[in-house]
Formats: sequence, structure tokens, C-alpha cells
Amino acid sequence: MSIARAVLLRASKSPFLNHQASHRAFVKRAVRKFMPGERPEDALDAGLRLAAEGRGTVFTKLGENLTSLADAVAVRDHYLWFFDQVAARRVPGHVSVKPTQLGLDLSQEKCAEFLEELAQKAEQTGTYFWLDMEDSSYVDRTIALYRGLRARHEKVGLAMQAYLRRTPADLEALIPISPTIRLVKGAYAEPPAVAFPEKADTDRAFYELSVRMLEAAAQGKCLPILGTHDVPLLRRLVDKARELGVPDGGYEIHMLYGIRDADQKQLREQGRTVRTLISYGASWFPWYMRRLAERPANVWFVVRSMVS
Ligand code: FDA
Repeated sequence: MSIARAVLLRASKSPFLNHQASHRAFVKRAVRKFMPGERPEDALDAGLRLAAEGRGTVFTKLGENLTSLADAVAVRDHYLWFFDQVAARRVPGHVSVKPTQLGLDLSQEKCAEFLEELAQKAEQTGTYFWLDMEDSSYVDRTIALYRGLRARHEKVGLAMQAYLRRTPADLEALIPISPTIRLVKGAYAEPPAVAFPEKADTDRAFYELSVRMLEAAAQGKCLPILGTHDVPLLRRLVDKARELGVPDGGYEIHMLYGIRDADQKQLREQGRTVRTLISYGASWFPWYMRRLAERPANVWFVVRSMVS
């Protein structure tokens, strides 16, 4: 891992920097590159604009590692309201949450209860419900939560991280339950025993895991989501899907708002199913630092925003 990436990921956990950055107008300006605004309405409006171009969306309210169950209840209530907004405004949008935003650090049982209520609401409003994957200490619990949801609901998905050494075994164990998996490279600081320190190894793992998901998709046993902005890698996987007989729509490509937007448009125009993950909310600091860590050159956007 590069020094810049390690420093930015360490900074993402600093309450002091969080407080400082969250109150600086120039940082807020820089954050706008990655989110249309802090209000849910900003996210929904952006979702409608993307829908006009044929792109779907996945929405997420920023926030993680909540420290009180009352806060988790408020997050659940927010999402119950938000599902209704998505349906009322006819946005082709899914919802994705972090389990620690729904109290996983406090009570796995309560978290499971909240997730179940949200999965039911997603079902009632005719959309998908997603679990993000957080750092490696949460993987076992998040997979257990997903299994619980998948036993009762069709349209529920789980993010898995290609950089984790354990992911091939985790994926194999999930295929019998016909999962929907959003494969991503992985955004957290992890020790080398747990995750590949070299990017090339993560890229190779992403390709191999995606091929395994596409093979399962060809037999109707997985809905693979390729969650990456790595366009050359995506092109190889689109060719592989064709070779395996997985039709367009038998897999999807998901990217983040504000990243590789022209490529998102082009992939859509070429017939791929593309969704853009839109974040909103005021608790953007740790999430934003992970975006900077993915591409430390992004720090220049912050500097430029300060100057302008
Ligand atoms: P890679 O880092 O190789 O980047 C490929 C290219 O994309 C770069 O060369 C650059 O052009 C562009 N790019 C990538 N990141 C950029 C950035 N921040 N700013 C500007 N350009 C950038 N992680 C996780 O641990 N748990 C999760 O649940 C999720 N969920 C998730 C959902 C979706 C839809 C996406 C796309 C990503 C996630 N992630 C995630 C984040 C993921 O783990 C990973 O950190 C980022 O996607 C960056 O890796 P890439 O796959 O884009 O490849």
C-alpha cells in the first residue's frame, strides 16, 4: 500500500480531522465532486437525471459505526421514508446500507431486526436492498446477516471485496443460495495477512472472482455486479460474459457518482446495465477520505477548492 493511501486511510478514522474538515467550506466544495448534495432530495434529483440517460442508481446515506441504538432506529426510520420517496418519484433506485449504521457494533440481533424491516420495505416498494461490506472485522457478521435476509427475500445483495484473501472461499459458500453479489476491490486499510498489499494481486483476484460469478450466472445461480471504475478490466469481463453466454442484464456494472462519468455513459450507450451509487448526508468525512485514498491525486481537488 502506498504511503499516501495509508496516511489518508488513517486520517479517515480521526475524530479531530473529521470535526475540522466537516466545518470547512472549501472541503465541502471538494466533496461535491463525489456527491450531488447532502440532502436526500439532492440525491433523488440526481437519480432522476441519470434515469433520463438510462442509468439506474443505488442510494446510500453516509454514516457508520453508530454508538447508540437510538441513532440506529433513526437511520432505519430515515430509510423507511426514503424507500417511499424512491417509489413516489419513480426513481429506478436501490438502497445500500452499512450494517454499523444500523447498530452492528451494539447488537447483532437488533441490527438483523432493522435490516429485515428494510428488506421488507424494499420488497413492498419493488426495489433492491444492499449491504455494503466494511472492514474485515465485520465480514463474518455481515455474511451471516446477508444469509438471514436472503433466506426470506429475493432482491437483496451483498458487497464482497476482492482484496481479501478469504473472498474466494466466501463466494463459493454463498453460491448455493443464489446470491446477488456486488464485487468491489476493497477500500479499507487491512494487514497483509488479511488482504493483498499489492494492487496487481487485487486486480487479478477481481477478474477471477468475477469470472466465477459469471459462470454461476450462466447457470442461473448468481446475479453478478461488477463494482469498479477499472474500465480495461470491465471490458475483459464484458467479453467473458459474452463468451459464457450471460446476456446483458444478466449482470450489472456499478460505479460511484462523480467517477468515470463519461465511461458510465458510454457503457450504457453500448448496451450494458449501469447503476451509479449516489451518497448523501452530512457524515461524509470517513467516506470522503476513502475516496481520496483510492486516488491520492484527488487531494489536489481539495487544494484547488481552497484556492478558489
Ligand atoms: P482502481 O482503484 O483500480 O481504479 C480504476 C480507475 O478508476 C482509476 O485509475 C481512476 O481513474 C478511477 N478511480 C478509482 N477510484 C477513484 C477515485 N476515488 N477518484 C477518482 N478516480 C477514481 N468498498 C468497500 O470496501 N466496501 C463496499 O461496500 C464498497 N462499495 C462500493 C460500491 C460501488 C458501486 C463501487 C464502485 C465501489 C465500492 N467500494 C466499496 C469501493 C471499492 O472498494 C474501491 O475502493 C473503489 O471502487 C476504487 O477501486 P476501483 O475498482 O475503481 O479500481
